Amino acid sequence: LKAGLIADIEAADTLDALEGLRVGALGKNGVVTGLLKTLGGMSPEERLEKGPPIQDLRESVTAAIAERKAALEQAALDARLASEKVDMTLPADLGPQGSVHAVSQVMDELAEIFADLGFSVATGPEIEDDWHNFTALNIPETHPARAMHDTFYFPDEEGQKKMLLRTHTSPVQIRTMESFVASGQEPPIRIIAPGRVYRSDSDATHTPMFHQIEGLVIDKGITLGHLKWTLETFLKAFFEREDIVLRLRPSYFPFTEPSVEVDVGYTLTNGQRVIGGDGDAPGGGWLEVLGSGMVNRRVIEACGLDPDEWQGFAFGTGVDRLAMLKYGMNDLRAFFDGDLRWLKHYGFSA
Ligand code: PHE
Repeated sequence: LKAGLIADIEAADTLDALEGLRVGALGKNGVVTGLLKTLGGMSPEERLEKGPPIQDLRESVTAAIAERKAALEQAALDARLASEKVDMTLPADLGPQGSVHAVSQVMDELAEIFADLGFSVATGPEIEDDWHNFTALNIPETHPARAMHDTFYFPDEEGQKKMLLRTHTSPVQIRTMESFVASGQEPPIRIIAPGRVYRSDSDATHTPMFHQIEGLVIDKGITLGHLKWTLETFLKAFFEREDIVLRLRPSYFPFTEPSVEVDVGYTLTNGQRVIGGDGDAPGGGWLEVLGSGMVNRRVIEACGLDPDEWQGFAFGTGVDRLAMLKYGMNDLRAFFDGDLRWLKHYGFSA
């Protein structure tokens, strides 16, 4: 009996089969259990004689089952390890790749162009106070320019409109001059300030949030000629064309005097409007790209600098608008929809 049971156990090829054998031998109605039960009805002499071989049978069968069980489990584990082997040399699936947004790319491009001209990047808060966004820029409380800015205000507990979302990057002009004065540093100042600005306005060419880049130069003997050369050099580098023609129109900003609006000429090439060339040529025209001017002496004074000693120019332009012109996009809102098809179409996503 013992040899037969052990041979069956060693031949069991699955854990289920082994369990079947265990129940058949050691279960409630198993053969070995049955033999053990007969011990109770034996005389002491008979039990002394037949007991040990039955106990031995039980122990041998139990040990054989445990050994076979361990072997089968090890085999199952080996099989699983073999089937789940990872080939580290296979190329990995990286999934869809993101990329830098069109607006961020253009801002980086602008920062590089101006870095070559000796400008560093300055920043300021998007939540501004009235002084930096308006008053110091020669836009007093009653000035009509305040109404024109469609400002988002944060009224305080008394309903006072002290804090606001900056409506332009010009407050960074003020912050930069103030920090020069506060730290006892003298001009020259040459900075650009790219960043988000906010106005309560929305259509195909206006979004409530958009991006501007501000430029400020403060030094001795700065003239409109320096401004024109700087803008021309920047626009040629940005549009990657030598034949950029600028048209300077007299304009008005409270913080510059005189103020100049700058247009670039476009010409018709294969029926397409392309930036470059004389805007007065047949089929051509002019696109407004910049607001600028000589920094108003009242602004220089408000920042604590002596306007008889220091002069400068400033300019401000819409980054999104520049991107639209360079890449031939027509809806500003699409910049902020996050539509992958649009980003892919303009090569801004994989
Ligand atoms: N801040 C002006 C605007 O948002 C642009 C500007 C900047 C004009 C600097 C002149 C000088 O329209």
